[in-house]
Order: sequence, then structure tokens, then C-alpha cells
Amino acid sequence: MVEPLHDRFGATISGIDLRTVTEGHLYPEIRAAFEEHSLLLFRDQQLDNASHTHLASLFGPLENREQIAGNDEPFSVSTVSNVTDDGSLLTTDALTLIDLTANMLWHTDSTFLPVPALVNLLAAAVVPSSGGQTEFCTTRAAFGDLAPGRQAEVRRLFAVHQLTHSREQIDSRLTELDYVSRWPDRAWRTVWRNPTNGREAIYIASHAYTIEGMDRAAGEQFVGELLEHCTQPAYRYSHEWTVGDVIIWDERAVLHRGRPWPYDEPRTLNSICCSVTELDGLASVRPPTGP
Ligand SMILES: [Fe+2]
Repeated sequence: MVEPLHDRFGATISGIDLRTVTEGHLYPEIRAAFEEHSLLLFRDQQLDNASHTHLASLFGPLENREQIAGNDEPFSVSTVSNVTDDGSLLTTDALTLIDLTANMLWHTDSTFLPVPALVNLLAAAVVPSSGGQTEFCTTRAAFGDLAPGRQAEVRRLFAVHQLTHSREQIDSRLTELDYVSRWPDRAWRTVWRNPTNGREAIYIASHAYTIEGMDRAAGEQFVGELLEHCTQPAYRYSHEWTVGDVIIWDERAVLHRGRPWPYDEPRTLNSICCSVTELDGLASVRPPTGP
């Protein structure tokens, strides 16, 4: 059963055990709902890493940042968590916890990679007693509400993305970390047209620091205004996590951010991103000169 989650986007899908989904069984329906609603919520799921990975692999190539950076490391499920490998909790002065707080800026995942993300499949494993919500905004509705002249302007521009830009807004020490500084500038069109249904969405992130062809200050202001427009309360859904929740969202049409929680409590969300492919409209957002 598919029920609306928010009046502008999103759907709750019930009656499905995501462990049973295969390419031929339920995936076509889930993929169609993903293209239509941009964000899908499934409750009471029991994904382990293997079934989570299998489900993600149906959407596209599994994103492995180490491999993209040239390191020979196998794929592993990412965690958004304050729990370390030995089970202890990160302290609030730990740089990795400070890095987590950078996820609390509105963003789209992986816009600083050579190929950005199509989708994130986020599954709640451990939730705190309060806080830790993930918030989402529909940039499809935000684009649709722009005046036609503004739509035409946004459609022809390219934003320049760099991971250091979002990190330096939080703590300049983060920009010195290799896994932050190793990605060069990437430019993407500020509108992504969904090739399945033709719907357009603003494509922007906190990683974007300017617009091609503008001076830095004007570009930064333009990006700021777009982000402000997209993240108005009318476009926003805030999700309170319950263990077993799985949210699958379209990175081409949704902005998201994390919210803080009491860091003396553990919180773990398991996350897998898949990269876009040409079938998802990648060529339409590449600037004519690269990347
Ligand atoms: Fe994210």
C-alpha cells in the first residue's frame, strides 16, 4: 500500500519486506514509486548488511569512495553514527563527530565526486531517546514554484561543488583531512530533469560554493538564495526515526540534513549510496567542458 507522506512529496509503502525484493520481484514497482514520489519510507524492516547491500545494488553501482579515490578497498556499508569500532561513544571534541555535524547542513550526497549519488538507502539501527531526525526538502516542488523566468535562469547555470566548502563552514580543521580535501571541484547543472517523467528539480548542496561564470561572492549568494528557497518549511519533511525504518530518496530531487541528538547516547543509521548512470540523466547535468 502506498500512502502520501507529505503534501508535496514522499510516500509510505507498507506490506513489503525489503529482504524479499529482487530485480524481478517488487523492484520495478519500488523504482516507479521512487521516480514519482522522490522519497519512500518503509517501516518495521529487518535489513542486515547483506540484504541492505543487495537492495541498494538494484538501483545502480554501489558507491565506494575509497575505490573512486584509487584505493583498493572493498565496499562496506557506511554508518552515520557516534559509536566507534570498539563500542565506545565519540566525545564532542572528536573530529569525526564534528565531521558528522557537517551533515547537518542542507546537502545532496556526493556532488563532489566524479559521479554523484542517485539514491541513499538509510536504515535506522540504533536511535536515541530524542533528536537525531533527518529532514528532507523537495527541490522538485521548489523548482515548480519558481517564476518561469527564474526557472529558465536556473536551468542554464552550473554550480561548482567542493567538499571542503561545506566542511570549512563547520570547522576549518576538517578541510585538512585527506578524505575531505582529496576531491577537486565538480560542476553540475543546477536543475536535474528526471528522464523518466520529465520533472525538473533544483540540484544544489552545501558543497556548492559558486556558480560558473559569476564572481565568487555573487555565485555564493546565488547558491545561498537557492538553498534558502528550497528549504522553506512548506517543502520540508522531518523524519523521527524508529528502529527498522528505511528511507530511500532521490538525490536528484531532494535535499537533506541531519539533526543533533544527545551525544551521550548511541545513534546509528546505516547508509548506502548508489551512483547515477547515464540512464538517470547524468549527461544532462554535466557542463559542456567537463568534468
Ligand atoms: Fe547526507
